Amino acid sequence: MCGIVGYLGVKDSIPIIIKGLKRLEYRGYDSAGVAVLDEGQLCTVKQAGKVKDLEAALIESPCSGRIGIAHTRWATHGEPNDVNAHPHVDQTGKIALIHNGIIENYNSLREVLKQQGVSFTSETDTEVLVQLISTIYQQDNLSFTMSVQAALQEVVGAYGIVAICADEPDTIVAARFGSPLVLGIGDGEYYIASDASPIVEYTRNVIYLDEGELVTITFTGYTIRKIAEDNIVTKEITRIDLSVEEIEKGAFPHFMLKEIYDQERTIKDTMRGRLLLSEGSAHLGGIQDYLPRIEKVRRFYITACGTSWHAGLIGKYILEEFANIPVHIEYASEFRYRKTILDGNTVVIAISQSGETADTLAAIRKAREQGALTMGICNVVGSSIARETDCGVYTHAGPEIGVASTKAFTAQVTVLLMLALLLGRRRGLSLDTGVALVNALDSIDQLVRHTLDQANKIKQVAKENQQADNFLYLGRGLNFPIALEGALKCKEISYIHAEGYPAAEMKHGPIALIDEKMPVVVIAPHDRTFDKIISNISEVKARQGRVIAITDKCCPELERISDFIIEVGEMHRIIFPIVATIPLQILAYHLAVYRGCNVDQPRNLAKSVTVE
Ligand code: F6R
Repeated sequence: MCGIVGYLGVKDSIPIIIKGLKRLEYRGYDSAGVAVLDEGQLCTVKQAGKVKDLEAALIESPCSGRIGIAHTRWATHGEPNDVNAHPHVDQTGKIALIHNGIIENYNSLREVLKQQGVSFTSETDTEVLVQLISTIYQQDNLSFTMSVQAALQEVVGAYGIVAICADEPDTIVAARFGSPLVLGIGDGEYYIASDASPIVEYTRNVIYLDEGELVTITFTGYTIRKIAEDNIVTKEITRIDLSVEEIEKGAFPHFMLKEIYDQERTIKDTMRGRLLLSEGSAHLGGIQDYLPRIEKVRRFYITACGTSWHAGLIGKYILEEFANIPVHIEYASEFRYRKTILDGNTVVIAISQSGETADTLAAIRKAREQGALTMGICNVVGSSIARETDCGVYTHAGPEIGVASTKAFTAQVTVLLMLALLLGRRRGLSLDTGVALVNALDSIDQLVRHTLDQANKIKQVAKENQQADNFLYLGRGLNFPIALEGALKCKEISYIHAEGYPAAEMKHGPIALIDEKMPVVVIAPHDRTFDKIISNISEVKARQGRVIAITDKCCPELERISDFIIEVGEMHRIIFPIVATIPLQILAYHLAVYRGCNVDQPRNLAKSVTVE
């Protein structure tokens, strides 16, 4: 989704903010722009398209200045064109604003402003906000900071904003409500961004703004205040644990491929220091203090979106199986708006890579209001969901830059397995079963390595099926969510229509689609449903479908009815879904590359969905 970066310091801001925008490209966007202040003059350049198009525009219309703000926009109000791109400038030409989020009451504000003689050039909600700030600034004789603050009190919706004003050429004002902002504190230099990635190569010292906070940055320091109460707040500086290497793709052609390969290490990182081999259990420090309450609750809810929801579905299966607790799972966008029956006897688990997904955040806020205990499973340290939940577990998969989630998913499932193990052992799971699970988890990296070694074979499968218009993914039990995840990966990056189904459901409808042009990916380990899945594959084959089987080991039955077989190795059935996800990620990746798609930034998608 939209990205923000700003700089105030001794250097020319343009190279810093342009580099910052490149670091933020992964979030998904369709236009970009900058505004700088140079000796009291405001200069703005903005452009539909990519950051490289903006760079070209800056060669045509160069500008420089020690204060600069920059934005990548993911269109919500108004199509992605030059006019709707940020920054937006007020009608006096003095104030520039960039904005993430949505101003919900922008229509009524716009009408009021129009009546006061303001004319608008764009269709955006953001322009309404900058004109509102400007009107207050001109009419009420307030400082720039106070004008921004006053305008924000009239706004309904979500925002992360950064603004500059030619009349106060030593000041940046930024504020957040619903969209994250991080302040980077360097040596006489300050950075403001929607996440830490544009900041990390300059400073590790940051402050995460909390909801409803506004910061004024000048060459002599910064002041943070609450927008509503107008009181100054003192906040701790946090050291971020993120290296530049982690946000670069190195020798890999795409971040997604790098992140797929990262999994050999990241799944282990998720478990580091958490597995208790002799006790057949796990230690999860972030929920330790809440365990006496958690283990006694009557039910769990899991809420999430997209890929994280698929991890949650596996979580439901394994928590019910090992910890013997009823688990409901629900899309956060549904959970937040319907009547839910929650109380102190419920744990609501929110799963989110970014920790910023608007619907998931709203769901946990609702859960807290209803008295449930909330637990976050997040990848981004210090993210909103991580901070707003009562307790939680970080996935420690490292920064995920590719828009399609890969390593975060396997890390989420790994955390859920450890949670099921930990709660299971406290609720009657036998030591032997626990030890077997821990041993399985502990040896997973070898299986991941073995699976990654099949990449060329999977690439060949992609090559031979790249022309397909549709794919079907089938799995049973724990591997049904993997079928959903495989289908999602396929459609989001290769734009091939794909559906995931429980294998037995196929004959209740989707079987009508099968013909010789339809590749059907079947997740087929030798577990207790193997015979059933063989029957499902036979039904596909009988209709000339092309079968791509993902299995633990090859066998004559599978060979007889499959067109392609990917073998991931024999393992405990409980870790199979994690390992079997990897060939599906690789398949989607190569399908996308063969079809010439933008793998890391698929069209219309955003990495962090901070609007509902
Ligand atoms: C798909 C994908 C999305 C996200 C979803 C939730 O590859 O990445 O479906 O999983 O937008 O995002 P988070 O996990 O950040 O809450």
